[in-house]
Amino acid sequence: MIREVLRMGDARLLAKSQHVTQFGTGELDALLVDMRDTMAHLNGAGLAAPQIGVPLRVVIFGVHANPAFPGRIEIAETVLINPVIEPVEGTLTVDDWEGCLSVPGLRGLVPRHERIRYRGFDEAGNPVERIAEGFHARVVQHECDH
Ligand code: NI
Repeated sequence: MIREVLRMGDARLLAKSQHVTQFGTGELDALLVDMRDTMAHLNGAGLAAPQIGVPLRVVIFGVHANPAFPGRIEIAETVLINPVIEPVEGTLTVDDWEGCLSVPGLRGLVPRHERIRYRGFDEAGNPVERIAEGFHARVVQHECDH
């Protein structure tokens, strides 16, 4: 189900989210269905559970190839729960423009680590660990900030 995305100024966006403690549950599956529906509806690259009013450490992200944007970088569809991010040693910090579904119509110049390692779990509780750089690293840092 497509859910309403909370906008900047909503106090729920500022609350500290809780860790997920149970995986493979109906509640978690239902949350992820709603997050995917909402992100697809708004053509987002990522979405965090607090953006639909659920204070859990759950983010999704992914970017598909699109013939209209031949240079666009693809990112595999990913569910990342209880994420931990660390910069790869020696990485640079890079400024670039970001948008956010909770801040419609605006973009901000945001410094991010160019290369990161991220860890977390998928919806079944399997560990996820990846090294990411560039736009992929930026999207992950943005979503986990939520
Ligand atoms: Ni955002």
